[in-house]
Amino acid sequence: MPKRVIDCSGMIEIPFLGDTPRLHRCIATYMIPGYESATDDLLGSIVAHSGCQEYPIVVFCFDRSPSAEHVLQKYKVIPIQCNVISNDPVAYHSVLYSVAHVIDAEQFLCLGADTLVLDNIKPLFALLDVCAPEAIAAGKQVKDQEKGILDHMVFAGNQQALQALDLLIREQSSQHDDQSVSYWSTSEPFAQALSHMGKSVVLSPTCNAFFSDAAVKVGDRAGRLRASWQGETVKVLNFAGSGASESAEWRGHFARIPDPLVGVGEGNGYKDFVVALRGWIGRYGMSSMAWSFYGSADSQAASIRDPYTMPIFACLHYLIRANGCVRVLETGTARGVSAACLASAVAHRPQARVVTIDPHPRTERYFERWDLWAALPEPMQSCIETRQTRSLEGLKAALDAGEVYDAILLDSIHSEEYVWEEFQLAIQLVCAGGLILIHDAILKFGTVDRALARIEDAGYNVTRLWAAEGGVPEEDRLGLAVVEKRPRSSKIEINASSIDLLRKSL
Ligand SMILES: C[S@@+](CC[C@H](N)C(=O)[O-])C[C@H]1O[C@@H](n2cnc3c(N)ncnc32)[C@H](O)[C@@H]1O
Repeated sequence: MPKRVIDCSGMIEIPFLGDTPRLHRCIATYMIPGYESATDDLLGSIVAHSGCQEYPIVVFCFDRSPSAEHVLQKYKVIPIQCNVISNDPVAYHSVLYSVAHVIDAEQFLCLGADTLVLDNIKPLFALLDVCAPEAIAAGKQVKDQEKGILDHMVFAGNQQALQALDLLIREQSSQHDDQSVSYWSTSEPFAQALSHMGKSVVLSPTCNAFFSDAAVKVGDRAGRLRASWQGETVKVLNFAGSGASESAEWRGHFARIPDPLVGVGEGNGYKDFVVALRGWIGRYGMSSMAWSFYGSADSQAASIRDPYTMPIFACLHYLIRANGCVRVLETGTARGVSAACLASAVAHRPQARVVTIDPHPRTERYFERWDLWAALPEPMQSCIETRQTRSLEGLKAALDAGEVYDAILLDSIHSEEYVWEEFQLAIQLVCAGGLILIHDAILKFGTVDRALARIEDAGYNVTRLWAAEGGVPEEDRLGLAVVEKRPRSSKIEINASSIDLLRKSL
Protein backbone atom coordinates (compact mmCIF):
# COMPACT_ATOMS: atom_id res chain seq x y z
CA MET A 1 0.00 0.00 0.00
CA PRO A 2 1.35 3.50 -0.85
CA LYS A 3 1.99 6.14 1.85
CA ARG A 4 -0.80 8.32 0.53
CA VAL A 5 -3.10 8.46 -2.45
CA ILE A 6 -4.49 11.47 -4.26
CA ASP A 7 -8.00 10.55 -5.32
CA CYS A 8 -8.90 10.57 -8.99
CA SER A 9 -10.38 14.08 -8.85
CA GLY A 10 -6.93 15.28 -7.75
CA MET A 11 -8.55 17.28 -4.93
CA ILE A 12 -8.38 14.92 -1.97
CA GLU A 13 -5.34 13.39 -0.30
CA ILE A 14 -6.04 10.07 1.40
CA PRO A 15 -3.47 8.91 3.99
CA PHE A 16 -2.04 5.42 4.18
CA LEU A 17 -3.57 3.56 7.11
CA GLY A 18 -0.47 1.64 8.11
CA ASP A 19 -0.25 -2.12 8.09
CA THR A 20 -3.73 -3.31 8.88
CA PRO A 21 -4.98 -6.87 8.64
CA ARG A 22 -6.59 -7.78 5.33
CA LEU A 23 -10.36 -7.58 5.55
CA HIS A 24 -12.73 -9.97 3.89
CA ARG A 25 -15.54 -7.47 3.25
CA CYS A 26 -16.07 -3.83 4.11
CA ILE A 27 -18.64 -1.09 3.60
CA ALA A 28 -17.27 2.33 2.62
CA THR A 29 -18.84 5.77 2.74
CA TYR A 30 -17.84 9.37 3.59
CA MET A 31 -18.90 12.30 5.74
CA ILE A 32 -19.19 15.75 4.16
CA PRO A 33 -18.39 18.68 6.50
CA GLY A 34 -21.66 20.30 7.51
CA TYR A 35 -23.70 17.24 6.45
CA GLU A 36 -22.68 14.90 9.27
CA SER A 37 -26.30 14.06 10.03
CA ALA A 38 -26.72 12.42 6.58
CA THR A 39 -23.83 10.03 7.31
CA ASP A 40 -25.16 9.55 10.85
CA ASP A 41 -28.48 8.50 9.33
CA LEU A 42 -26.84 6.16 6.81
CA LEU A 43 -24.65 4.49 9.47
CA GLY A 44 -27.66 4.07 11.79
CA SER A 45 -29.60 2.41 8.97
CA ILE A 46 -26.64 0.12 8.18
CA VAL A 47 -26.31 -1.16 11.76
CA ALA A 48 -30.08 -1.60 12.03
CA HIS A 49 -30.95 -3.24 8.71
CA SER A 50 -27.99 -4.25 6.55
CA GLY A 51 -27.48 -7.72 8.05
CA CYS A 52 -23.77 -6.92 7.65
CA GLN A 53 -22.86 -6.14 11.26
CA GLU A 54 -19.77 -8.35 11.06
CA TYR A 55 -18.20 -6.23 8.32
CA PRO A 56 -16.17 -3.12 9.21
CA ILE A 57 -17.45 0.25 8.03
CA VAL A 58 -14.86 2.65 6.62
CA VAL A 59 -15.75 6.36 6.68
CA PHE A 60 -13.69 8.92 4.77
CA CYS A 61 -13.88 12.23 6.60
CA PHE A 62 -12.53 15.66 5.90
CA ASP A 63 -12.41 17.52 9.20
CA ARG A 64 -12.25 16.82 12.92
CA SER A 65 -15.28 18.82 13.98
CA PRO A 66 -17.02 17.71 17.20
CA SER A 67 -20.06 16.61 15.20
CA ALA A 68 -17.89 14.49 12.87
CA GLU A 69 -16.03 12.94 15.84
CA HIS A 70 -19.37 12.23 17.51
CA VAL A 71 -20.63 10.24 14.50
CA LEU A 72 -17.36 8.28 14.19
CA GLN A 73 -17.48 7.37 17.88
CA LYS A 74 -21.18 6.57 17.85
CA TYR A 75 -20.79 3.77 15.28
CA LYS A 76 -17.19 2.73 16.05
CA VAL A 77 -16.27 2.87 12.36
CA ILE A 78 -12.78 2.92 10.80
CA PRO A 79 -12.17 6.63 10.11
CA ILE A 80 -9.88 7.78 7.30
CA GLN A 81 -9.01 11.45 7.80
CA CYS A 82 -8.40 12.96 4.37
CA ASN A 83 -7.07 16.39 3.35
CA VAL A 84 -8.77 18.54 0.79
CA ILE A 85 -5.90 19.88 -1.34
CA SER A 86 -7.91 22.19 -3.56
CA ASN A 87 -9.22 25.69 -3.08
CA ASP A 88 -12.15 24.90 -5.35
CA PRO A 89 -15.32 23.19 -4.18
CA VAL A 90 -14.88 19.44 -3.95
CA ALA A 91 -17.12 16.51 -4.92
CA TYR A 92 -16.36 14.24 -1.99
CA HIS A 93 -17.90 11.14 -3.58
CA SER A 94 -14.80 10.60 -5.74
CA VAL A 95 -12.86 9.25 -2.71
CA LEU A 96 -14.89 6.06 -3.00
CA TYR A 97 -13.38 5.34 -6.43
CA SER A 98 -9.99 5.05 -4.73
CA VAL A 99 -11.08 2.93 -1.75
CA ALA A 100 -9.38 -0.25 -2.98
CA HIS A 101 -6.01 1.54 -3.03
CA VAL A 102 -6.13 2.49 0.66
CA ILE A 103 -8.06 -0.35 2.30
CA ASP A 104 -6.84 -3.91 1.96
CA ALA A 105 -10.06 -5.88 1.56
CA GLU A 106 -11.32 -8.57 -0.78
CA GLN A 107 -14.73 -7.01 -1.38
CA PHE A 108 -16.15 -3.51 -1.09
CA LEU A 109 -19.62 -2.07 -0.98
CA CYS A 110 -19.56 1.71 -1.52
CA LEU A 111 -22.51 3.86 -0.50
CA GLY A 112 -22.98 7.56 -1.14
CA ALA A 113 -23.60 9.54 2.04
CA ASP A 114 -27.14 10.48 1.01
CA THR A 115 -28.52 6.95 1.05
CA LEU A 116 -30.28 4.76 3.61
CA VAL A 117 -30.03 1.00 3.96
CA LEU A 118 -33.52 -0.37 4.64
CA ASP A 119 -33.06 -4.10 4.13
CA ASN A 120 -30.46 -6.88 4.08
CA ILE A 121 -27.64 -5.99 1.66
CA LYS A 122 -25.49 -9.06 2.24
CA PRO A 123 -26.58 -10.41 -1.18
CA LEU A 124 -24.58 -7.57 -2.77
CA PHE A 125 -21.43 -9.11 -1.31
CA ALA A 126 -22.58 -12.64 -2.14
CA LEU A 127 -22.97 -11.51 -5.73
CA LEU A 128 -19.25 -10.69 -5.83
CA ASP A 129 -18.46 -14.27 -4.78
CA VAL A 130 -20.00 -15.60 -7.96
CA CYS A 131 -19.25 -13.03 -10.65
CA ALA A 132 -16.00 -12.42 -12.52
CA PRO A 133 -13.33 -10.74 -10.35
CA GLU A 134 -13.19 -7.76 -12.75
CA ALA A 135 -16.95 -7.11 -12.47
CA ILE A 136 -18.48 -4.11 -10.72
CA ALA A 137 -22.14 -4.08 -9.70
CA ALA A 138 -24.09 -0.81 -9.84
CA GLY A 139 -27.66 0.37 -10.38
CA LYS A 140 -29.01 2.46 -13.24
CA GLN A 141 -30.01 6.10 -12.90
CA VAL A 142 -33.70 6.54 -12.42
CA LYS A 143 -34.61 8.52 -15.53
CA ASP A 144 -34.43 5.61 -17.91
CA GLN A 145 -33.98 2.19 -16.39
CA GLU A 146 -33.58 0.64 -19.85
CA LYS A 147 -30.99 2.96 -21.33
CA GLY A 148 -29.96 5.04 -18.32
CA ILE A 149 -26.31 5.24 -17.34
CA LEU A 150 -24.93 3.41 -14.31
CA ASP A 151 -25.21 5.38 -11.09
CA HIS A 152 -22.32 5.80 -8.66
CA MET A 153 -24.24 6.08 -5.36
CA VAL A 154 -24.29 2.31 -4.73
CA PHE A 155 -21.59 0.08 -6.19
CA ALA A 156 -19.81 -3.11 -5.19
CA GLY A 157 -16.71 -4.82 -6.44
CA ASN A 158 -13.71 -6.95 -5.61
CA GLN A 159 -10.41 -5.23 -4.87
CA GLN A 160 -9.01 -5.96 -8.32
CA ALA A 161 -12.07 -4.51 -10.07
CA LEU A 162 -12.15 -1.32 -7.99
CA GLN A 163 -8.42 -0.74 -8.46
CA ALA A 164 -8.92 -1.03 -12.21
CA LEU A 165 -11.91 1.33 -12.04
CA ASP A 166 -9.85 3.97 -10.24
CA LEU A 167 -7.05 3.78 -12.82
CA LEU A 168 -9.47 4.04 -15.71
CA ILE A 169 -11.25 7.05 -14.22
CA ARG A 170 -7.88 8.77 -13.76
CA GLU A 171 -6.90 8.03 -17.32
CA GLN A 172 -10.10 9.27 -18.89
CA SER A 173 -10.36 12.36 -16.67
CA SER A 174 -6.85 13.44 -17.66
CA GLN A 175 -8.25 13.87 -21.17
CA HIS A 176 -11.37 15.67 -19.97
CA ASP A 177 -11.33 19.46 -20.09
CA ASP A 178 -13.75 20.06 -17.25
CA GLN A 179 -12.25 19.05 -13.90
CA SER A 180 -14.70 21.06 -11.82
CA VAL A 181 -16.93 19.88 -9.01
CA SER A 182 -19.85 19.65 -11.42
CA TYR A 183 -18.02 16.98 -13.46
CA TRP A 184 -16.98 14.97 -10.39
CA SER A 185 -20.38 15.12 -8.69
CA THR A 186 -22.13 13.38 -11.57
CA SER A 187 -21.99 9.67 -12.35
CA GLU A 188 -20.40 10.42 -15.69
CA PRO A 189 -16.74 9.50 -14.94
CA PHE A 190 -17.87 6.35 -13.14
CA ALA A 191 -20.33 5.24 -15.83
CA GLN A 192 -17.86 5.95 -18.61
CA ALA A 193 -15.16 3.86 -16.95
CA LEU A 194 -17.57 0.99 -16.35
CA SER A 195 -18.67 1.01 -19.94
CA HIS A 196 -15.00 0.89 -20.95
CA MET A 197 -14.34 -2.04 -18.62
CA GLY A 198 -17.36 -3.86 -20.08
CA LYS A 199 -17.85 -6.02 -16.99
CA SER A 200 -20.64 -4.31 -15.11
CA VAL A 201 -23.46 -6.14 -13.40
CA VAL A 202 -26.66 -4.09 -13.30
CA LEU A 203 -28.35 -4.13 -9.90
CA SER A 204 -32.09 -4.20 -9.37
CA PRO A 205 -33.62 -0.74 -8.86
CA THR A 206 -34.39 -1.91 -5.30
CA CYS A 207 -30.66 -1.70 -4.53
CA ASN A 208 -30.51 1.97 -5.48
CA ALA A 209 -34.09 3.25 -5.39
CA PHE A 210 -34.37 6.97 -5.97
CA PHE A 211 -36.62 8.80 -3.56
CA SER A 212 -37.50 11.09 -6.47
CA ASP A 213 -38.85 8.13 -8.50
CA ALA A 214 -42.67 8.14 -8.44
CA ALA A 215 -42.59 4.32 -8.22
CA VAL A 216 -40.81 4.50 -4.85
CA LYS A 217 -43.07 4.59 -1.78
CA VAL A 218 -41.57 5.32 1.62
CA GLY A 219 -43.41 4.83 4.89
CA ASP A 220 -43.16 3.95 8.54
CA ARG A 221 -44.73 0.49 8.32
CA ALA A 222 -44.71 -2.67 10.42
CA GLY A 223 -42.56 -1.17 13.11
CA ARG A 224 -39.91 0.56 11.05
CA LEU A 225 -38.97 2.71 8.09
CA ARG A 226 -39.53 0.84 4.84
CA ALA A 227 -39.60 1.62 1.17
CA SER A 228 -40.87 -0.22 -1.86
CA TRP A 229 -40.28 0.13 -5.58
CA GLN A 230 -43.14 -1.17 -7.71
CA GLY A 231 -44.22 -3.19 -4.68
CA GLU A 232 -40.77 -4.76 -4.06
CA THR A 233 -38.78 -4.15 -0.89
CA VAL A 234 -36.14 -1.47 -1.31
CA LYS A 235 -32.71 -2.32 0.07
CA VAL A 236 -31.00 1.03 -0.47
CA LEU A 237 -32.92 4.29 -0.75
CA ASN A 238 -31.13 7.11 -2.56
CA PHE A 239 -32.04 10.73 -1.78
CA ALA A 240 -29.89 12.19 -4.59
CA GLY A 241 -31.82 14.60 -6.73
CA SER A 242 -34.65 15.13 -4.25
CA GLY A 243 -35.20 18.40 -2.47
CA ALA A 244 -34.45 18.53 1.24
CA SER A 245 -38.01 19.64 2.01
CA GLU A 246 -39.62 16.77 0.04
CA SER A 247 -37.62 14.14 1.87
CA ALA A 248 -37.44 15.91 5.26
CA GLU A 249 -40.01 13.57 6.82
CA TRP A 250 -37.81 10.53 6.13
CA ARG A 251 -34.49 11.96 7.22
CA GLY A 252 -33.04 11.77 10.70
CA HIS A 253 -34.86 8.57 11.70
CA PHE A 254 -31.60 6.88 12.63
CA ALA A 255 -29.43 9.91 13.36
CA ARG A 256 -31.71 10.99 16.18
CA ILE A 257 -31.12 7.73 18.07
CA PRO A 258 -28.28 8.46 20.50
CA ASP A 259 -27.50 4.85 21.40
CA PRO A 260 -27.57 2.46 18.42
CA LEU A 261 -26.58 -1.19 18.72
CA VAL A 262 -23.19 -1.40 17.01
CA GLY A 263 -20.43 -3.89 16.41
CA VAL A 264 -20.21 -7.63 16.39
CA GLY A 265 -18.74 -8.31 19.83
CA GLU A 266 -16.94 -11.59 20.02
CA GLY A 267 -18.48 -13.28 17.04
CA ASN A 268 -21.01 -16.02 16.49
CA GLY A 269 -19.33 -19.21 17.67
CA TYR A 270 -22.64 -21.04 17.78
CA LYS A 271 -23.17 -20.43 14.06
CA ASP A 272 -19.67 -21.79 13.32
CA PHE A 273 -20.41 -24.89 15.42
CA VAL A 274 -23.71 -25.49 13.62
CA VAL A 275 -22.07 -25.11 10.19
CA ALA A 276 -19.41 -27.69 11.13
CA LEU A 277 -21.99 -30.03 12.65
CA ARG A 278 -24.33 -29.80 9.68
CA GLY A 279 -21.52 -30.77 7.30
CA TRP A 280 -20.49 -33.63 9.60
CA ILE A 281 -24.04 -35.01 9.80
CA GLY A 282 -24.21 -34.62 6.01
CA ARG A 283 -21.23 -36.95 5.78
CA TYR A 284 -22.10 -39.52 8.43
CA GLY A 285 -25.86 -39.25 8.79
CA MET A 286 -28.14 -38.70 11.75
CA SER A 287 -27.11 -42.01 13.31
CA SER A 288 -23.74 -40.38 14.14
CA MET A 289 -25.68 -38.25 16.67
CA ALA A 290 -27.00 -41.27 18.60
CA TRP A 291 -24.96 -40.59 21.75
CA SER A 292 -25.24 -36.85 21.62
CA PHE A 293 -27.76 -34.57 23.33
CA TYR A 294 -30.13 -35.35 20.45
CA GLY A 295 -29.76 -39.11 20.89
CA SER A 296 -32.80 -41.19 21.79
CA ALA A 297 -33.33 -42.46 25.34
CA ASP A 298 -32.31 -45.97 24.26
CA SER A 299 -29.01 -44.60 22.78
CA GLN A 300 -29.83 -46.24 19.45
CA ALA A 301 -30.90 -43.34 17.23
CA ALA A 302 -31.20 -39.57 17.10
CA SER A 303 -33.65 -37.03 15.81
CA ILE A 304 -33.52 -33.27 15.61
CA ARG A 305 -36.91 -31.67 15.74
CA ASP A 306 -35.65 -28.24 14.75
CA PRO A 307 -32.58 -28.72 12.52
CA TYR A 308 -32.40 -25.05 11.63
CA THR A 309 -31.34 -23.77 15.06
CA MET A 310 -30.82 -26.98 17.11
CA PRO A 311 -32.09 -25.36 20.32
CA ILE A 312 -30.70 -28.04 22.63
CA PHE A 313 -27.15 -27.24 21.55
CA ALA A 314 -28.01 -23.54 21.58
CA CYS A 315 -29.08 -23.99 25.21
CA LEU A 316 -25.79 -25.72 26.13
CA HIS A 317 -23.75 -23.16 24.19
CA TYR A 318 -25.41 -20.10 25.70
CA LEU A 319 -25.60 -21.58 29.21
CA ILE A 320 -21.81 -21.81 29.11
CA ARG A 321 -21.19 -18.60 27.16
CA ALA A 322 -23.66 -16.38 29.03
CA ASN A 323 -22.35 -17.72 32.33
CA GLY A 324 -18.91 -16.31 31.41
CA CYS A 325 -17.16 -19.70 31.44
CA VAL A 326 -13.55 -19.91 30.24
CA ARG A 327 -12.41 -23.34 31.46
CA VAL A 328 -14.82 -26.22 31.07
CA LEU A 329 -14.32 -29.92 31.80
CA GLU A 330 -16.37 -32.77 30.36
CA THR A 331 -16.49 -36.45 31.16
CA GLY A 332 -17.48 -38.68 28.22
CA THR A 333 -16.13 -37.43 24.89
CA ALA A 334 -17.67 -40.00 22.51
CA ARG A 335 -17.71 -38.46 19.00
CA GLY A 336 -16.90 -35.03 20.41
CA VAL A 337 -20.23 -33.32 19.68
CA SER A 338 -20.80 -31.76 23.10
CA ALA A 339 -17.07 -30.91 23.37
CA ALA A 340 -17.33 -29.05 20.04
CA CYS A 341 -20.40 -27.19 21.29
CA LEU A 342 -18.62 -26.27 24.55
CA ALA A 343 -15.56 -25.10 22.59
CA SER A 344 -17.76 -22.86 20.43
CA ALA A 345 -18.99 -21.18 23.62
CA VAL A 346 -15.57 -20.34 25.11
CA ALA A 347 -12.98 -20.24 22.28
CA HIS A 348 -13.18 -16.44 21.88
CA ARG A 349 -12.02 -15.92 25.49
CA PRO A 350 -8.33 -15.72 26.45
CA GLN A 351 -7.07 -18.92 28.16
CA ALA A 352 -10.15 -20.84 26.92
CA ARG A 353 -9.98 -24.58 27.55
CA VAL A 354 -12.32 -27.52 27.13
CA VAL A 355 -10.84 -30.61 28.76
CA THR A 356 -12.70 -33.76 27.73
CA ILE A 357 -12.06 -37.09 29.41
CA ASP A 358 -12.76 -40.53 27.93
CA PRO A 359 -10.88 -43.83 28.34
CA HIS A 360 -11.31 -44.71 24.68
CA PRO A 361 -8.36 -43.64 22.53
CA ARG A 362 -9.03 -41.04 19.87
CA THR A 363 -7.70 -43.36 17.19
CA GLU A 364 -10.51 -45.80 17.84
CA ARG A 365 -13.66 -45.90 15.79
CA TYR A 366 -15.23 -42.79 17.32
CA PHE A 367 -12.57 -40.47 16.03
CA GLU A 368 -10.62 -42.04 13.26
CA ARG A 369 -13.33 -41.40 10.71
CA TRP A 370 -15.50 -39.03 12.67
CA ASP A 371 -13.41 -35.98 13.21
CA LEU A 372 -15.98 -33.27 13.73
CA TRP A 373 -13.37 -31.08 15.42
CA ALA A 374 -11.33 -30.79 12.20
CA ALA A 375 -14.24 -28.85 10.69
CA LEU A 376 -14.29 -26.25 13.48
CA PRO A 377 -12.49 -22.90 13.21
CA GLU A 378 -8.91 -23.18 14.48
CA PRO A 379 -9.40 -21.36 17.84
CA MET A 380 -12.14 -23.86 18.75
CA GLN A 381 -10.05 -26.86 17.73
CA SER A 382 -7.02 -25.68 19.66
CA CYS A 383 -8.87 -25.04 22.92
CA ILE A 384 -10.01 -28.69 23.18
CA GLU A 385 -7.73 -30.96 25.21
CA THR A 386 -8.41 -34.70 25.36
CA ARG A 387 -7.39 -36.83 28.31
CA GLN A 388 -7.50 -40.55 27.77
CA THR A 389 -8.45 -42.05 31.11
CA ARG A 390 -11.45 -43.03 33.19
CA SER A 391 -13.15 -39.89 34.44
CA LEU A 392 -12.73 -40.66 38.16
CA GLU A 393 -8.98 -40.90 37.67
CA GLY A 394 -9.01 -37.85 35.38
CA LEU A 395 -10.98 -35.75 37.86
CA LYS A 396 -8.70 -36.79 40.75
CA ALA A 397 -5.59 -35.94 38.71
CA ALA A 398 -7.06 -32.53 37.83
CA LEU A 399 -7.76 -31.92 41.51
CA ASP A 400 -4.22 -32.95 42.50
CA ALA A 401 -2.86 -30.57 39.85
CA GLY A 402 -4.84 -27.69 41.42
CA GLU A 403 -7.01 -27.13 38.33
CA VAL A 404 -10.17 -25.05 38.61
CA TYR A 405 -13.08 -25.01 36.15
CA ASP A 406 -16.00 -22.66 35.60
CA ALA A 407 -18.31 -25.48 34.52
CA ILE A 408 -18.21 -29.27 34.35
CA LEU A 409 -20.40 -31.53 32.21
CA LEU A 410 -20.83 -35.09 33.46
CA ASP A 411 -21.79 -37.38 30.55
CA SER A 412 -19.89 -40.64 30.87
CA ILE A 413 -21.44 -43.57 32.78
CA HIS A 414 -25.09 -42.95 33.62
CA SER A 415 -25.44 -44.86 36.86
CA GLU A 416 -26.28 -43.53 40.32
CA GLU A 417 -23.00 -44.60 41.91
CA TYR A 418 -20.76 -43.38 39.10
CA VAL A 419 -22.43 -39.98 38.76
CA TRP A 420 -22.36 -39.52 42.54
CA GLU A 421 -18.62 -40.34 42.58
CA GLU A 422 -17.99 -37.96 39.67
CA PHE A 423 -20.07 -35.25 41.34
CA GLN A 424 -18.11 -35.41 44.58
CA LEU A 425 -14.90 -34.73 42.66
CA ALA A 426 -16.48 -32.21 40.30
CA ILE A 427 -17.86 -30.07 43.12
CA GLN A 428 -14.29 -29.60 44.38
CA LEU A 429 -12.97 -28.71 40.91
CA VAL A 430 -15.57 -26.13 40.00
CA CYS A 431 -15.27 -22.50 41.14
CA ALA A 432 -17.69 -21.01 43.68
CA GLY A 433 -21.02 -20.44 41.93
CA GLY A 434 -19.80 -22.52 38.94
CA LEU A 435 -22.06 -24.99 37.16
CA ILE A 436 -22.13 -28.76 37.14
CA LEU A 437 -24.25 -30.08 34.29
CA ILE A 438 -25.36 -33.69 34.45
CA HIS A 439 -26.68 -35.26 31.30
CA ASP A 440 -29.20 -38.05 30.84
CA ALA A 441 -31.14 -37.41 34.03
CA ILE A 442 -34.02 -39.54 32.78
CA LEU A 443 -32.18 -42.00 30.55
CA LYS A 444 -34.19 -45.19 30.00
CA PHE A 445 -31.64 -47.62 31.42
CA GLY A 446 -29.79 -45.16 33.62
CA THR A 447 -30.11 -44.33 37.30
CA VAL A 448 -28.88 -40.75 37.13
CA ASP A 449 -32.14 -39.56 38.74
CA ARG A 450 -31.12 -41.32 41.99
CA ALA A 451 -27.73 -39.57 41.93
CA LEU A 452 -29.58 -36.27 41.52
CA ALA A 453 -31.68 -37.08 44.59
CA ARG A 454 -28.47 -37.66 46.56
CA ILE A 455 -27.07 -34.36 45.32
CA GLU A 456 -30.24 -32.62 46.51
CA ASP A 457 -29.94 -34.42 49.86
CA ALA A 458 -26.40 -33.07 50.09
CA GLY A 459 -27.82 -29.54 49.99
CA TYR A 460 -27.63 -28.50 46.35
CA ASN A 461 -30.47 -27.25 44.18
CA VAL A 462 -30.90 -29.36 41.07
CA THR A 463 -32.76 -27.94 38.06
CA ARG A 464 -33.85 -30.51 35.51
CA LEU A 465 -34.04 -28.93 32.06
CA TRP A 466 -36.05 -30.40 29.19
CA ALA A 467 -37.85 -32.75 31.55
CA ALA A 468 -41.14 -30.92 32.05
CA GLU A 469 -44.40 -32.84 31.71
CA GLY A 470 -45.94 -30.08 29.59
CA GLY A 471 -44.85 -28.26 26.44
CA VAL A 472 -43.48 -29.76 23.25
CA PRO A 473 -40.46 -32.03 23.81
CA GLU A 474 -37.46 -30.79 21.83
CA GLU A 475 -35.72 -34.17 22.02
CA ASP A 476 -36.24 -37.49 23.75
CA ARG A 477 -36.62 -35.87 27.16
CA LEU A 478 -33.17 -36.99 28.26
CA GLY A 479 -32.97 -34.05 30.58
CA LEU A 480 -29.96 -32.01 31.57
CA ALA A 481 -29.61 -31.33 35.26
CA VAL A 482 -27.99 -28.05 36.30
CA VAL A 483 -26.35 -27.81 39.71
CA GLU A 484 -24.91 -24.57 40.98
CA LYS A 485 -22.00 -24.79 43.41
CA ARG A 486 -23.76 -22.78 46.07
CA PRO A 487 -25.24 -24.99 48.72
CA ARG A 488 -28.73 -24.12 50.08
CA SER A 489 -27.92 -22.61 53.44
CA SER A 490 -31.21 -23.07 55.27
CA LYS A 491 -32.40 -26.43 54.08
CA ILE A 492 -29.36 -28.66 54.10
CA GLU A 493 -30.25 -32.01 55.49
CA ILE A 494 -27.55 -32.91 57.93
CA ASN A 495 -26.38 -36.36 57.07
CA ALA A 496 -22.97 -37.92 56.79
CA SER A 497 -22.57 -37.49 53.04
CA SER A 498 -23.61 -33.83 53.01
CA ILE A 499 -21.21 -32.92 55.84
CA ASP A 500 -18.41 -34.78 54.13
CA LEU A 501 -19.17 -33.19 50.74
CA LEU A 502 -19.49 -29.68 52.14
CA ARG A 503 -16.16 -30.05 53.94
CA LYS A 504 -14.53 -31.07 50.66
CA SER A 505 -16.06 -28.41 48.47
CA LEU A 506 -15.74 -25.32 50.67
C1 LIG B 1 -23.05 -40.49 26.14
S1 LIG B 1 -21.44 -40.64 25.53
C2 LIG B 1 -20.88 -39.01 25.62
C3 LIG B 1 -21.52 -38.12 24.62
C4 LIG B 1 -20.84 -36.79 24.45
N1 LIG B 1 -20.69 -36.09 25.69
C5 LIG B 1 -21.66 -35.93 23.49
O1 LIG B 1 -22.69 -35.38 23.90
O2 LIG B 1 -21.27 -35.82 22.32
C6 LIG B 1 -20.59 -41.47 26.84
C7 LIG B 1 -19.07 -41.57 26.64
O3 LIG B 1 -18.55 -41.90 27.92
C8 LIG B 1 -17.39 -42.68 27.71
N2 LIG B 1 -17.05 -43.40 28.94
C9 LIG B 1 -17.37 -44.65 29.33
N3 LIG B 1 -16.83 -44.91 30.55
C10 LIG B 1 -16.18 -43.81 30.92
C11 LIG B 1 -15.44 -43.47 32.06
N4 LIG B 1 -15.25 -44.29 33.06
N5 LIG B 1 -14.92 -42.22 32.11
C12 LIG B 1 -15.10 -41.33 31.11
N6 LIG B 1 -15.79 -41.62 30.00
C13 LIG B 1 -16.33 -42.84 29.90
C14 LIG B 1 -17.76 -43.57 26.57
O4 LIG B 1 -16.57 -44.03 25.95
C15 LIG B 1 -18.58 -42.63 25.71
O5 LIG B 1 -17.73 -42.09 24.75
